[in-house]
Formats: sequence, C-alpha cells, structure tokens
Amino acid sequence: MRVLVLGSGGREHALARSLSMDPAVTQLHAAPGNPGIAELAELHSVTPADPAAVIELARQTAPDLIVVGPEAPLVAGVAGALRAAGFRCFGPDQGAAMIEGSKSFAKQVMTAAGVPTAAARTCSTGPDVQAALDELGPPYVVKADGLAAGKGVIVTTDRTEALEHAAACGTVVVEEFLDGPEVSVFAVADGRSAVALQPAQDYKRAYDGDAGPNTGGMGAYAPLPWAPPDLADETIATVVQPTLAELARRGTPFSGLLYAGLCLTSRGIRVVEFNARFGDPETQVVLDRLGTPLGGLLAAAAAGDLASAGKLTWLPGAAVTVVIAAQGYPASPASGDEIAGIDDAARVPGSYVLHAGTARDSSGRLVASGGRVLNIVANGPDQAAARDAAYQAAARIRLRGGWHRSDIAAPPAR
Ligand code: AMP
Ligand code: GLY
Repeated sequence: MRVLVLGSGGREHALARSLSMDPAVTQLHAAPGNPGIAELAELHSVTPADPAAVIELARQTAPDLIVVGPEAPLVAGVAGALRAAGFRCFGPDQGAAMIEGSKSFAKQVMTAAGVPTAAARTCSTGPDVQAALDELGPPYVVKADGLAAGKGVIVTTDRTEALEHAAACGTVVVEEFLDGPEVSVFAVADGRSAVALQPAQDYKRAYDGDAGPNTGGMGAYAPLPWAPPDLADETIATVVQPTLAELARRGTPFSGLLYAGLCLTSRGIRVVEFNARFGDPETQVVLDRLGTPLGGLLAAAAAGDLASAGKLTWLPGAAVTVVIAAQGYPASPASGDEIAGIDDAARVPGSYVLHAGTARDSSGRLVASGGRVLNIVANGPDQAAARDAAYQAAARIRLRGGWHRSDIAAPPAR
C-alpha cells in the first residue's frame, strides 16, 4: 500500500512513523512534511489546503490511501475533493469537518443528537454577549466561532477580559464553565460506525501547574490509569455514535478521526470540543501504544468498512511526550536557531524524537521553524518509567531558548 500523508507537524511525524512500521505500507509520501518525516517518506512541497495542488500530487504519486493530518485542509474541503477525484482518503468532507470548523455548528449537532455538552449561547453582538455572560455566570468561557489554531478560547473570571475577547472575535460561543479533568478520546470513524483509541491527556497551558496561556499542547500521556475503565466505550455510546448518526442524517457522514475533547465532571462526561482530526500531541502517545497496524486501520475506515480492521490491540505499558517549545512560544516564537542533540536524546532507552516545527536552513543545518519544535516521546513499562525516559531525553536537546514543561505525566494524576 502506498500512503500519502498531508501535513508537517509532530502529529504527522507520528502518523508517518506508525505507517512506516505497518508491513502493508510499502511506500510513504508526505506533503509538505518536515526534516524528520523526510527520513521515512518522500517529501513534496505542496500546500495541504490547496485541493487542486493536492489532487495533482495524488495523480503523480498514485497513493492507495491519503491521510489528512491538520484541520485546515479538511475545513477547506480537500478530503472530499480527493474522493471526488477517485482517491481513497482518511479525513472527513468539508461539511462534516465543520464539527471542528465552527463551534456553533458543533453545538447544534450536539443538541440535535442529545450529546452531553456545556450549555452555550451563540452571540454576534455586544449586548448578546453581555446577556449570555449574565445568564451563564463566571468563570466565563468565550470561544471564537471559527478555526483559531488553539487561540480562540478564553476562560476567565474577569468580565472585561471576556467582553474584550468577544469583541475581537466577531461571532462567539459563550459557554457554561465545566469543572473536572479533561481527556481526549479519538474515534476512528467510517461514516456510520467508529472505534475508540486509548484515551489520552494533553497539557494545554504553557507552564507548569497549568499556568500561563493556552497553547496547542505542551505534552501528553496514555493510557490514563486513573480514568474509568469504560470511558472509551461510554464515549462511543453517548458521544460518538449519536454524533455520527446526526451528521449522516444531515447528509454529511463523518469518515475520518472524530476527536472528542471531554471534561469528566461530577455530573458525568461533557464534550468540551470536537476536532475533525488527530490531536497533537496526544497522537504521538496513542499511536506509540497501538499494536494494530495503522495503515490497515485507516484504510478500512476510509473504505467505509471499519469492521474489516478487526478488534484493536494495544501494547502494554505507557507512553509520554514532552514538547520542546521555541523561545517566546506561544506569543512570538523565535525561529532559525540550530537544534542539536537529537541523536543523543534518541539513545535514551525507550525514547525517540519527532519533529514538529523544524526545517533545514540554506546550509542544511536543522533549525527551529515553529513554536512547538520537537516532541520527545518515550515509552516504558509504566507511566513513571516512560516519563523518566522522556525527561532524560529532553535534557539532551540543545536549542537556544528552547524550553518545556517539567510536570508532564507527573503524579498526582490529574
Ligand atoms: P477548546 O478549543 O474548545 O477545546 O477550548 C480550549 C480549552 O479551553 C479546553 O481544553 C479547556 O481547557 C478550556 N475550555 C473550553 N471550554 C471550556 C468550558 N466550557 N469550561 C471550562 N474550560 C473550558
Ligand atoms: N491537543 C489539542 C489539539 O490537538 O487540538
């Protein structure tokens, strides 16, 4: 099977790594990829969100399966365009990807499907926002309606800040505050049915102790030893299946990865958000533990026949990933600084390094080119061992101003 992966981050490096370990995968292509993915796949400098360019690349490389990593191409309709051109693609059509592309659409779908989520009001004027803040009360949760690369949400007790964020965003969704640990459950869906991957937890805030601004995610671990053992099954039954049924009823069946961001509240699970793609960096740890070959699983889902993939198997033990961020991330990440120590880091038993925001400069040096630069991944017989290995490896990376959280996967479990 020839596979083309679209995207260029740590998630896509993790996807490419797992695909390269599937004996059925004989050739890997990536667009645009990154220097880490280049060690596993042939790279093509094509923009994933440009449907015409991606179709042209698919015609040249003739993949049996195309895996769309990021949300932007999905929301731009690339998966549907590829299918219409005759290619098998893992990723939802534009209509179904709106479950991530519009928070208000996601709320409408959840309401119609009876999926438990925070009470919410969609507002497009100042007075509407004021009324919603009064009704739902503090802490205030205000979300930009459209895609915002992880920067559209604020949670604050400061009403002025909530109002300012709303004014800067245009249409917003104001939500009831949910209290409890957050988990990410990924469901591989074929349009009608779905199978859950192991629940994972990510760390969205920039600094230790969940301080600082929201980020794309500073680390993750899986599995979750503290989570209810039936969490994945319950999520499929109460969240994923009703959502798939509602999207199919609307004529936009969801085929691809439905990511349920959940809050485990004292009143039960609540959906915080849906994404239409694998989470980053949770994917890095979830795929590390997946025993089932990834190419076969994604191809079965893309073919509308998930049942043919059989029951998923999981490796014992745990995986942890620590994100190495560039100086100044998330506000204004520095780029162009040289990265060293990757080979040293990968010598720590159980660990390896995925590239997230890296590039080669004109003289071929590996440099930082994005806010989240590297993902140090490590596995071990348990979470503590995986965590130790990840931090030992992280300490071997040399990047001027590079930094990471020091409490990823640290006890007590959250
Ligand atoms: P979202 O992009 O919707 O996932 O929001 C980003 C982050 O904001 C989430 O991971 C939560 O940490 C926080 N958040 C979002 N919605 C809520 C909510 N209703 N209550 C509490 N925290 C929230
Ligand atoms: N880790 C959060 C996300 O991928 O949206």
